[in-house]
Amino acid sequence: MTSIESDCSPTARRRGFRCGSCGAAHPQWAGRCANCGDWNSLAPAATPDRPGSPSARAIPLADVAAATHAPAATGVDEFDRALSGGLVAGSVTLLGGQPGVGKSTLMLQVASSWARARGPVLMVSAEESAAQVRRRADRLDAVHDRLWLAGDPAVEAVVDQLDQVHPELLVVDSIQTVHVDGPSSGPGTPAQVRASAQRLVAEAKGRGLATVLVGHVVKDGGLAGPKVLEHVVDTVVELTGDRHHALRLLRVAKHRFGPTDELGVFEIAGDGMRSVADPSRLFLADRATGVPGSVVVPALEGHRPLLVELQALAVRATTAHPRRSSQGVDARRLALLLAVLERWAGCALGDLDVFVSAAGGATVTEPAADLAVALAVASATTGHRLPDDTVACGEVGLGGEVRQAVGIERRLAEAQRLGFRRAVVPASAPEPPSGLTAIRVGTLAEAVAVAFVPARSAAVPTCAEPPSSSILAS
Ligand code: TYD
Ligand code: MG
Repeated sequence: MTSIESDCSPTARRRGFRCGSCGAAHPQWAGRCANCGDWNSLAPAATPDRPGSPSARAIPLADVAAATHAPAATGVDEFDRALSGGLVAGSVTLLGGQPGVGKSTLMLQVASSWARARGPVLMVSAEESAAQVRRRADRLDAVHDRLWLAGDPAVEAVVDQLDQVHPELLVVDSIQTVHVDGPSSGPGTPAQVRASAQRLVAEAKGRGLATVLVGHVVKDGGLAGPKVLEHVVDTVVELTGDRHHALRLLRVAKHRFGPTDELGVFEIAGDGMRSVADPSRLFLADRATGVPGSVVVPALEGHRPLLVELQALAVRATTAHPRRSSQGVDARRLALLLAVLERWAGCALGDLDVFVSAAGGATVTEPAADLAVALAVASATTGHRLPDDTVACGEVGLGGEVRQAVGIERRLAEAQRLGFRRAVVPASAPEPPSGLTAIRVGTLAEAVAVAFVPARSAAVPTCAEPPSSSILAS
């Protein structure tokens, strides 16, 4: 038996065989080509036996027509912004988030807005009763004739309702509570979640139906069960926020139809999720000016600049092990910056409790915030402060050097737009926008020496005094 003869895999059987001498196609393998008579010339066809079919030949990439996926705006501005315009017909989006973060609220608003402006929407609410959803809809003013609600968690029942309602948008809340026949396990298990999602994806593609699957995120941060889901869907977005603050961020983790560095910003209020078009203003709204320990950093979330106030407080430690506490700032990064301050900037922090936090529930973990964190701590320990119209931005290295931050132009443009006049930046930073003066520093020690306004009353004077020649002294 030849090796070719033994190739009776389903693929080979489906594709048939082709004669290497004359090119004739044969549905089955034979020792001799019936067309030209050559022996042992038949080999499995590489492609389905459809001469001239588009997939049979390689074509120049330039000749391939790019499919266009025009997103349809849902009318919820920050949702549309995060998704680069809205939802694409036939696409499936997975919306993840911790329980209670506001996924159902946001999707009810999106569904209602779509029903008002576009066409029928089917919401599958397998988590809450119809009466609960109705109460929430009343609160959000989201009731509309074209917004339909289904409560049956069986995916087959959902498909039946698609045939009845003919929606343009399907929202399934949540993918962990629906189930399909087949996998013997109950709803929420990985097998069920995967099978349910695959069925709904097939319906979405077949019907050109925009679909959003809501999924809970478990404690460790992954979507419960279905890491696999991320491969099945076109888009993955995550809603985050902490329960003690109103701020909610919608981040894009995967997007087949646009960039993943867009960001949606919301504020959760009594009447639902409000789009925040100018988040920097929101973050700085309650800022206390003239206070040591406060430094504003132009942060970047994806490619959206956000001005965030970082605050530090330093007090004499009452125990032998001083406390270091951080909120919205990476704790390990803070420990590193305290060591750099101690070693390279003359700050004696050994017997101080140090607290650092990002105001307003923001989270700033990027290295570009290093300089601002370090200056906030230095300011808190000396009582000297940055002028209120000054931002700081740059990465700090272990040698105390201040390094370039990505996207510094965009950061400084945002600072300038919000009325800031000065920016402490790495020495190599590009020219700032007009109206903003760059205070270039090569090291953290230099930043501590030149950036501060001398204290009126130093709270915990431990850092080196800024020289009286401080260029910002006023
Ligand atoms: P919800 O959308 O149910 O969260 P998820 O679906 O992610 O579990 O919203 C949860 C919280 O939002 C709940 O604590 C109540 C609050 N909320 C508001 O603050 N304003 C509102 O208008 C609504 C409807 C809810
Ligand atoms: Mg919910």
